[in-house]
Amino acid sequence: NGTGSINEKGNLTIGGIDTVDLGKEFGTPLYIYDVELIRGRARSFKRAFEEAGINHQVAYASKAFSCMALLQVIQEENLSLDVVSGGELFTALKAGFPAEKIHFHGNNKSREEIEMAVRANIGCFVVDNFYELSLLEEVSDDYGFHPSILLRITPGVEAHTHEYITTGQEDSKFGFDLKSGQVERAIRIILENKRLDLLGLHCHIGSQIFETIGFVKAVETIYSYISKWNETFSYRPRVLNLGGGFGIRYTEQDQPIPAEEYVEAMVKAVTKHSHEQGLPLPEIWIEPGRSLVGDAGTTLYKVGSQKEIPSLRRYLAVDGGMSDNLRPALYQAKYEAVIANKVTEVRNESYSIAGKCCESGDMLIWDQQLPTAEAGDYLAVFCTGAYGYSMANNYNRLPRPAVVFVENGDAQLVVKRETYEDLISHDLPLKQSMVS
Ligand code: LLP
Repeated sequence: NGTGSINEKGNLTIGGIDTVDLGKEFGTPLYIYDVELIRGRARSFKRAFEEAGINHQVAYASKAFSCMALLQVIQEENLSLDVVSGGELFTALKAGFPAEKIHFHGNNKSREEIEMAVRANIGCFVVDNFYELSLLEEVSDDYGFHPSILLRITPGVEAHTHEYITTGQEDSKFGFDLKSGQVERAIRIILENKRLDLLGLHCHIGSQIFETIGFVKAVETIYSYISKWNETFSYRPRVLNLGGGFGIRYTEQDQPIPAEEYVEAMVKAVTKHSHEQGLPLPEIWIEPGRSLVGDAGTTLYKVGSQKEIPSLRRYLAVDGGMSDNLRPALYQAKYEAVIANKVTEVRNESYSIAGKCCESGDMLIWDQQLPTAEAGDYLAVFCTGAYGYSMANNYNRLPRPAVVFVENGDAQLVVKRETYEDLISHDLPLKQSMVS
């Protein structure tokens, strides 16, 4: 894995810090982020564009994991930000993220969310549908605002990934349909409204993608339409946003390719088609989420009960589960783990790692080789940095874990652990007994 090494005690360290010490200090379950790794990933995307000499924006897809401290890191690395809700926007603004570098996504933005974004003067709306377009026109009129717009289109490209996380195929809830002329209609509406500035187009073909071909195909498809739009109403996009979806290594089966390869393939495809059509080169924007924070995050749990079904299986239960990592239950996602206080010991047992939620499907890992485990051991599950905390929930009224950042041998708490009091903080007692 990209994160972690071993110290003289035989314990797992992250960012130079003993994870067992972190577990003792901050409790478990605990998300631990290696901040240096996040910075490294961000820089490799930026560098690849800089080396290609192309105008670009790398926007972090904050749905992967959003908290104020992380957004400060993202800002320090000079990235832009993709938000998909009023809540993500609020977090970004509170973190002091520059509004002009925020892009607002989502397939059902409410009028209130649009107003909030207009008032904040954000950089760009990624408009998903006609309803949103008319809301944005109305709100912009009310506020005298001139929004910059990217139109989200579905390019009809199938990314080979889990069906719940593909988004670019034709039959998808996201974006304007290309084939049926919806995009033309939307372009016309925008071009006819002097208040709106159509920056360009956006597509996102899916997540956890390991090949460049899907992006190249998307560019090819988009350009076949761009040439028509250029002829019919001289419209040429100044920006092409090709979305995120760059895959990471959860287990040995995953073979990620470097950021540079994606960027090079995109730049090459966009350059080729622009030249062929005699069009100026647009800016290329991307939106990585998982690939910036995924392998930088590790979840530390404490081991509790065990169950052995003779000659069938050993279950090893930890103090979290689908409440802090929904991905195995939702996508059959695979993870790898070690016992953080026994990293150098022989892995002589096979355990299936169970969560503590009241649900048989609450299994984090099936058949993980580990040294003999006992209650009180710390189990570290790798690569939980994306869509872990962000999809965490309070099922069974489990408080959400704390989040700690480590960098240069320093650890700091960036999200506090929820308390039982937090769990009932929005509950209101019954005014009058309904049972008479
Ligand atoms: N841009 C758009 C428009 C997106 O919809 C997404 C992810 C991204 C960028 C970032 O994709 P990434 O680089 O993180 O793959 N909860 C699922 C993933 C859902 C992704 C939704 N959209 C999971 O845990 O795998």
